[in-house]
Amino acid sequence: METIRLTIDRENIDSALMEQAAEVIRRGGLVAFPTETVYGLGADACDPDAARSIYAAKGRPSDNPLIVHISQVQQLYDIASEVPAVADRLFEAFWPGPMTVIVKKNDRIPLETTGGLDTVAVRMPSHPVARELIQKSGCMIAAPSANSSGRPSPTRADHVWEDPNGRIDMLIDGGEVELGLESTIIDLTESVPMILRPGFVTREMLEDVIGQVRIDPGITSADTATEGLAPKAPGMRYRHYAPRGSLSIIEGTESDVAAYIEKNCDEQRAAGRRTAVLCRSETRHLYNRADEIIVMGDTGDEAAVASRLFAVLRQMDEDQIDCIFSESFRGAGVAEAVMNRLMKAAGHNLIRVGS
Ligand code: TXA
Ligand code: MG
Repeated sequence: METIRLTIDRENIDSALMEQAAEVIRRGGLVAFPTETVYGLGADACDPDAARSIYAAKGRPSDNPLIVHISQVQQLYDIASEVPAVADRLFEAFWPGPMTVIVKKNDRIPLETTGGLDTVAVRMPSHPVARELIQKSGCMIAAPSANSSGRPSPTRADHVWEDPNGRIDMLIDGGEVELGLESTIIDLTESVPMILRPGFVTREMLEDVIGQVRIDPGITSADTATEGLAPKAPGMRYRHYAPRGSLSIIEGTESDVAAYIEKNCDEQRAAGRRTAVLCRSETRHLYNRADEIIVMGDTGDEAAVASRLFAVLRQMDEDQIDCIFSESFRGAGVAEAVMNRLMKAAGHNLIRVGS
């Protein structure tokens, strides 16, 4: 199929163009659209056939549930069978925005949308184009990230164009997204609310509003495989984001890390492989052996690293890099989300150097 591409200015939304997109959603089609986190691939959340076509377009396993995007809190109550008392405080504090909640569902949302689960993930995005699409279509919109399954999530329309283009009806180009990492997922069906995927709404921010919050033990461990703990969110179990080349995260003092990376870049290049380093602006001067040296952001500015990460991983493939060495971005707050995605991309290949 020929994918129609529309360009919409988020500051000055063209209502006639948005009506075209809304019409595609209403008749069961697929529209890729920008949100503040990443681009989503949307369809009517209440239409089982539309949900099935999302899985087909992404090549996504059908047991990996979709997030339902809404524009008013009332819509969550329309599709939930049980909403715990703490929920309203979360909605007030973080919606619209990069937080997804998991609640028990009722019959309005088909099992096709939730990958067969009796719970549903719900998010109210803040991006004006996303909000307008939900409102104009009159539908709740089921949308996973708009990448082909396994690839990094798209932070620009061109990334969507590279991936499921030709398998979707329409792509709305709304420019680059603001945040660049997918939403925080918090499961409200647990006795103590549990974070299933870290994001910009951090554990500390959630605890300030509702008290104690746990992090899914299946995702916190760097060595999930060895501990045998499966993450609760099905999508967190799959290999994800991985570039075609090998990616290692190197941890230790600045000088030990740089020495290790420089030495390994020399060895890899001698063997004819193309190399890249992902580092901070403060440590940039420590590197000069790799084919590409990419500054992810300043130390402590994890938001900058977050907004660049997925695009850089795609660039590694485009530039045919065989070996990527990344500094570690470990820390509290948004760094948790950055390290979670980086560790997944690296297949948990973390190397500690020095004494
Ligand atoms: O920021 C975002 O959340 C983006 C934008 C487009 O809104 N969406 C997104 O969707 O990242 P997706 O499908 O790529 O990731 C959804 C994650 C998956 O890991 C999935 O397994 C999990 O949410 N999930 C969805 N429903 C769930 C449920 N009922 N229980 C547990 N995990 C669920
Ligand atoms: Mg995804």
